Amino acid sequence: YTDPSFSAAVIDWQKQHGRHTLPWQNTRNAYLVWLSEIMLQQTQVSAVLGYYARFLERFPTLRDLAAAPVEDVMAQWSGLGYYTRARNLHKCAQQVVAQYDGVFPADPALLAELPGIGRSTAAAIAAFSSGTRAAIMDGNVKRVFARVFGIDAFPGEKKVEQDMWRRAEALLPATGIEAYTQGLMDLGATVCTRSSPACGRCPLQARCVAYATGRTKDLPVRKPK
Ligand code: ADE
Ligand code: SF4
Repeated sequence: YTDPSFSAAVIDWQKQHGRHTLPWQNTRNAYLVWLSEIMLQQTQVSAVLGYYARFLERFPTLRDLAAAPVEDVMAQWSGLGYYTRARNLHKCAQQVVAQYDGVFPADPALLAELPGIGRSTAAAIAAFSSGTRAAIMDGNVKRVFARVFGIDAFPGEKKVEQDMWRRAEALLPATGIEAYTQGLMDLGATVCTRSSPACGRCPLQARCVAYATGRTKDLPVRKPK
């Protein structure tokens, strides 16, 4: 692996300063993990918390969700937005019951074939529910990578995104994928924020190109018009 000190810094920081008590943490139940990752795709943690709890009261297991009328699923999702997520969620539950006897596969490549699960969500589900080594790449991680590595190009460009995926895979830790994955998410959400990164308490400061060159305001490169 390239530079194990990168993942070590993220993992140590996560253990000391990351989030440990979110309701979808401290479980390897793939249903609980999957539901959280779908809700968190386009919605902030604070907004997800109440919906997550109510959803699980109504649909305690994957089989409950798969057997429910889609109207009930939509009603529980009402207010969260991006309703395609709810339709795909229901379809995915039915597909996992039919195709995998109700057990989510551990392989991220198989997870990514299911409705509503892209490459990054598949990796997060695999990491949290089975400790599988796989790279995530969401908006927060793109921002952290653009700054740390001084990537001077728009991350929405295919070539640039591919480069970030390659770096993300090369940087995966040999062990501790759960803490590493949660650590990258937490760093992006609580330290390396979009408009005011807290570089003074960042575990990556010593290796951060944007910090060293005073370019945290200019990275990541914004969408060209
Ligand atoms: N955003 C996406 N996945 C998340 C998770 N597991 N915890 C916190 N925020 C997230
Ligand atoms: Fe982000 Fe600052 Fe950390 Fe660099 S040093 S990764 S800009 S928080």
